[in-house]
Amino acid sequence: MLKRIGVLTSGGDAPGMNAAIRAVVRTAIYHGAEACGIRRGYQGLIEGDVRPLPVESVSGIINRGGTILLTARSQEFMTEDGQRKASDTLARHGIEGLVVIGGDGSYRGAKVLSEKWSVPTIGVPGSIDNDIAGTDCTIGFSTAVNTALDAIDKIRDTAHSHERIFVVEVMGRARGAIALEVGLAGGAEAILIPELPYSIEKVNQKIIAGGQRGKKSCIIVVAEGAARGEQVAAEIEKGTGYQTRVTVLGHVQRGGSPASLDRVLASQLGSAAVNLLMQGQSGKMVGVSGHHVTVNDLEYAWTAPFDTDRRFLDLAEILSI
Ligand code: F6P
Repeated sequence: MLKRIGVLTSGGDAPGMNAAIRAVVRTAIYHGAEACGIRRGYQGLIEGDVRPLPVESVSGIINRGGTILLTARSQEFMTEDGQRKASDTLARHGIEGLVVIGGDGSYRGAKVLSEKWSVPTIGVPGSIDNDIAGTDCTIGFSTAVNTALDAIDKIRDTAHSHERIFVVEVMGRARGAIALEVGLAGGAEAILIPELPYSIEKVNQKIIAGGQRGKKSCIIVVAEGAARGEQVAAEIEKGTGYQTRVTVLGHVQRGGSPASLDRVLASQLGSAAVNLLMQGQSGKMVGVSGHHVTVNDLEYAWTAPFDTDRRFLDLAEILSI
């Protein structure tokens, strides 16, 4: 059994990361171990920014957005020297196993620590993007979708009242999971995502056809990685003649109190990660399939073929005529 477990959050913050930290700390204590928090992700590991996380340190955080451990995207950790410093920090603090909460970039760092520096490491998927293979859902996705949906519902009121087209740009550089989910849930007339080709010409034809039937307002959801909202809005206004406005939701999608789904997911996965460390495992990521916890090698997150659900796109198209 390990005696001291470290936890860090890395990459973009996501609602539910605190619930995951709490689960790691409380499960470690349950197993008779101590927990330590590393601040600012891998950068804090390099700089030795480690502090104990006693049982009360994670009280009252399950409902808080962001991450109490702070987060960063560390360039220095990419270097051999940075990795050596990070592994020295772990040894100095007697940390025998590490839980990394973050996206696939953070998992790549976890793999290096596990394989090259022999640090038992487990990854927990924390990202609003839902872009990690090996789990149905990442921690933070559900809350981000609800935040974006709330905004879209409000924008629809104005779109309807002014008989305008609104282009709403949501987050998602490489994957359009937020756009797909929120587009379907918000009744968007078109959804543009980076994974699949789209035609603004077709979007314009749909808007014009709707207009001829008396439908004078539309919501077009664009994932940031597919196109810039401004550019799409300009092309729509030019092609249809309808007044078009754009709203970029941006970082508002990353903050806020986590939805129940994210708190439950974070509790399950944070705890499962510690259990794996206690069983002597390393180089793994935890996820969920249905309500069951799944375990895969870390690299599964970026090597497995990612399944973009085209059915959501088709369904949104059928339902929004
Ligand atoms: O990975 C989460 C995410 O919010 C992406 O959707 C977005 O492209 C990116 O982070 C933005 O990163 P930053 O906050 O560093 O600008």
